[in-house]
Amino acid sequence: PAPQGVPHYLTHADLSAKEIYNLLASAIQHKHNVKYLNKSSGAPLAGKTLAVMFSKRSTRTRVATESSVTYLGGHPMFLGSQDIQLGVNESLLDTSKVVSSMVDGIMARVGSHSDIETLAKYSTVPVINALSDKYHPTQILADLMTLHETYGPQPSSPSSYVAHQTHPSKTLPGLRVAWIGDGNNILHSMMVTFPKLGIGLNVATPKGYGPNEEIIRHAQSEAKSTQTHLMFSSDPREAIKDADVIVTDTWISMGQEEEKAQRIKDFAGFQITSQLAKEGGAKSDWKFLHCLPRKQEEVSDEVFYSPRSLVFQEAENRKWTILAVIDALMVKKSFD
Ligand code: CP
Repeated sequence: PAPQGVPHYLTHADLSAKEIYNLLASAIQHKHNVKYLNKSSGAPLAGKTLAVMFSKRSTRTRVATESSVTYLGGHPMFLGSQDIQLGVNESLLDTSKVVSSMVDGIMARVGSHSDIETLAKYSTVPVINALSDKYHPTQILADLMTLHETYGPQPSSPSSYVAHQTHPSKTLPGLRVAWIGDGNNILHSMMVTFPKLGIGLNVATPKGYGPNEEIIRHAQSEAKSTQTHLMFSSDPREAIKDADVIVTDTWISMGQEEEKAQRIKDFAGFQITSQLAKEGGAKSDWKFLHCLPRKQEEVSDEVFYSPRSLVFQEAENRKWTILAVIDALMVKKSFD
């Protein structure tokens, strides 16, 4: 294995509330610097390369990553599944040792989560999880940023906002998020993040599509220690009760295309509509999140394109949060 001490970003289960909070504060600061102050980064990554190794399609994560590395003055080297031997024709151990000997960071989108763990284990440079079958941490960081922009204190400027937010947990006291959908990597990432930060979480998944049992136990333990609400159900209405925010995602993730017909049958009643939110008893001013890409079966147009929907702000925040992660790992070399 590679030497200890190289920081990686694989899942928020590995990070403290303070470390997650530092990333969030940095993302808010970067957005302010770039969008409102037109400030240059000073090119701290000049001459450095981030290998962007994606074995699956991506719009948001790839664009956010490549544009962030460019902003920091470095080179994002995109390596798709047809370009390199990522888990094909060469072991991941060998790929990790070889690639990390030539670049300054690796961002990888993989199938099995064990693949990103193997890359991190043998890499001599930081490894960032750009999505695995178990976790999608950069997505949940963007969701967290969007929630703070919507529900956090609203001081006069974003920089004073960063200064005001000094407590690493319970920055959104009383907020309740309802997940209505598949027990997938996005839900897992919420489960290892929200209870740790004191954000209430209701989960409804169809029978047979629940989240990973080990992650349930982890989330329950975090919820207990932060005294945060956490519940699981197979009834969307029960989970929607008193929700401030309703979240869903695709019912058919990449690689599950053959299960499409069965999944659409099994997820009947899970489409997010105004009617479902009303019947379930969501708060009257409830908001909607979705990591995208989106299909109509998961959420109706009247919700997705309504003022309740924060999805495009959420998508833009992929950029600022990924910039914060790259800055932490490749420039500051620490989450502190
Ligand atoms: N939400 C998300 O990860 O989008 P992409 O798959 O387009 O990167």
